[in-house]
Amino acid sequence: IISKKGSNVLRFQREKADKTKMRQRFWELAGSRMGSILGVKKIEENKDSADFTDEGDLDYKKSSQYASALIKKQESVSEFTRTKTIKQQREYLPIFSVREELLKAVSESKVLIISGETGSGKTTQLTQYLYESNYAANGNGMIGCTQPRRVAAVSVAKRVAEEMGCELGQEVGYSIRFEDCTTKNTRIKYMTDGVLLRESLNDPDLEQYSCIIMDEAHERSLNTDVLFGILKKVAQRRRDIKIIITSATMNSKKFSDFFDGASIFEIPGRTFPVGIRFDKAAAEDYVDAAVKKALQVHIQEAPGDILIFMTGQEDIEVTCLILAEKIASQETIPPITILPIYSQLRSDDQAKIFETSKQRKCIVATNIAETSLTLDGVRYVIDTGYCKIKVYNPKIGMDALQITPISQANANQRSGRAGRTGPGICYRLYSDTNFRSDMLENNIPEIQRTNLANVVLLLKSLNIDDLLQFDFMDPPPQETILNSMYQLWLLGCLDEAGSITDLGRKMAQFPLDPPLTKMLITADELGCTEEILTIVSMLSVPSVFYRPKGREEESDAVREKLLISESDHLTLLNVYEQWKKNDYSGQWCSDHFIQVKTLRKVREVRSQLKDIAKQQNLKLTSCNYDYDLVRKAICSAYFTHAAKIKSIGEYTNLRTAMPCRVHPSSALFTLGHAPDYVVYHELIMTTKEYMSCVTSVDPKWLAEMGPMFFSVKEYYGHRRDRSQIQAEATNRIELSNRIALEKQTEMRIKK
Ligand code: CDP
Ligand code: MG
Repeated sequence: IISKKGSNVLRFQREKADKTKMRQRFWELAGSRMGSILGVKKIEENKDSADFTDEGDLDYKKSSQYASALIKKQESVSEFTRTKTIKQQREYLPIFSVREELLKAVSESKVLIISGETGSGKTTQLTQYLYESNYAANGNGMIGCTQPRRVAAVSVAKRVAEEMGCELGQEVGYSIRFEDCTTKNTRIKYMTDGVLLRESLNDPDLEQYSCIIMDEAHERSLNTDVLFGILKKVAQRRRDIKIIITSATMNSKKFSDFFDGASIFEIPGRTFPVGIRFDKAAAEDYVDAAVKKALQVHIQEAPGDILIFMTGQEDIEVTCLILAEKIASQETIPPITILPIYSQLRSDDQAKIFETSKQRKCIVATNIAETSLTLDGVRYVIDTGYCKIKVYNPKIGMDALQITPISQANANQRSGRAGRTGPGICYRLYSDTNFRSDMLENNIPEIQRTNLANVVLLLKSLNIDDLLQFDFMDPPPQETILNSMYQLWLLGCLDEAGSITDLGRKMAQFPLDPPLTKMLITADELGCTEEILTIVSMLSVPSVFYRPKGREEESDAVREKLLISESDHLTLLNVYEQWKKNDYSGQWCSDHFIQVKTLRKVREVRSQLKDIAKQQNLKLTSCNYDYDLVRKAICSAYFTHAAKIKSIGEYTNLRTAMPCRVHPSSALFTLGHAPDYVVYHELIMTTKEYMSCVTSVDPKWLAEMGPMFFSVKEYYGHRRDRSQIQAEATNRIELSNRIALEKQTEMRIKK
């Protein structure tokens, strides 16, 4: 199976290969990388490119048809793009018909709310209109546009660079965490809302910008919500700034009220009617139901692309795989292009959803396709009725992704996606009653359901002391703020009075979760920053290991050689060090079943974190294989996530007293190592609670790093009175969460 450029060559030795497995692998690839597979051919050793030929007698008759369709597809371009110039495409967008009125409204107001249907041109055109009207003329500053999602920031910047005929990163660029694609020439900058929020740390008035567009404001992401409050202040201080809030057609009144009655500009919509088809009852297995529905539509309905709303990456991958298999298993079903889209997907794979195709496309997406990405040509929407959102879970003391029913507002947005280019149909895999009685009218904003430690630290370092008084559009529950403050106090970022400490200020400069930053700063004291930089970077990317189907045992065996028995963190370090020792080689990665792209990303992240560390005057030192120091640094970040052994395989969480186990993916599990005390990176909740990414620690370190929780008798010389500690701790932090504190102080190590 070869791709056009000869990269991604997948080799099978025909004589040896198990045909069923090959077939399975082919469709797996077809499901996830459709478009890049061009053909099947007997490939000679060490020859990377060859003309496509059909190996007829293999079980590949269909795949060769498939491949030729794909080749044609790559050569064909869409009717519209071929016949219309970029200028014509731009002028066709609804926003173009109101360009002058819109610019007038901008010139007349400091804060403007713009609402319009998805696809009307807000994200791609507004920045250009402002640019064309000299809002970013030399000396004026940049036009910034924030996006709640990384994928959207990158894909939109690409599109706009194309429309303006410039190289990405020049006049038009983007910036997302750990990836800055801008230069001093950049005038239009797309970025995630998190990036702008961080910039406000060192540039509180956002002087670099003449205009800021807060796009997709209706999503109410955590960072957008905080930015609202900050921008409101900036608007009061700066005369020369334009702030534009754009949103799909909901909530605009609410935004206007928040910005003291700012005017609302509505872009007239151009949408087609969408028929809604409810199911009789909610599907038991929504993946199965979605696949069935997609097949039914594909076989029975007129041309037009299908968009399936799934929950997250795993469900999307499974859906694509099953759908590809079903279609492959029946000769009579015409081919279809299956395209997954979710935020962790590689960016060149993401770009494929915008390519045009002669055959029907079936896009399987998260709620990213609700409003952030405009997909033309979709006529059929299949809505599972679920999404995956981050919710703070007080039981485990951190955010966890949870599959939840969507709101009615989401459901309506989703169905709207079917009516962009013509009348469409939306199939809801749930009933009318589910819609009316089980779904909330609107989403709960992220700020009201997630951990706020990062935000609290950032606001504190912006000298916003009284968080309960901060101007939030929808204030988070007081308890959540207090809880986050408590966590920050534990890490030493806040003092007894709840004010930010020097350590806290330093930590706020790192684009990482506070515990990871803490690890880095402790490493500085212990002399192992080089090692911890690697570990923190490895923890900031998805898993580097992969386990291909059909080669599970082989990959497990290879991986086992890289494991360090007492720590998954050290294992991550080891993987990176080995890769480095092998000159960062791609071959080494494929030999070890490791994703080379992910490791390269780690290397980039690491070098950026290293720059920040240097700026913050951390010493770049290595412990020279004294891994106890590294484990101690890890302990300093995760003493709140500690567990003590109970019996073989069973641990007790020291904070919640809940039983938990080491996750089977852990090195400790694989190598059968069962230390008395461990800390973990996160808890995974399935039928049981599993600790993932685990490191064994010395209990003395726990007492040293977390004296508010733990004491070791010999260590202190006397046993401190429990109620005394509690009283002290409560006094120390004015606003701490008492209940949590009571429970937590009870858990102490008695040696
Ligand atoms: O922001 P809004 O939903 O109002 O629209 P937009 O994202 O600016 O999309 C306007 C047009 O640009 C749509 O017709 C998209 O098809 C096109 N577009 C594109 O071709 N490639 C992108 N990466 C983004 C948008
Ligand atoms: Mg948009």
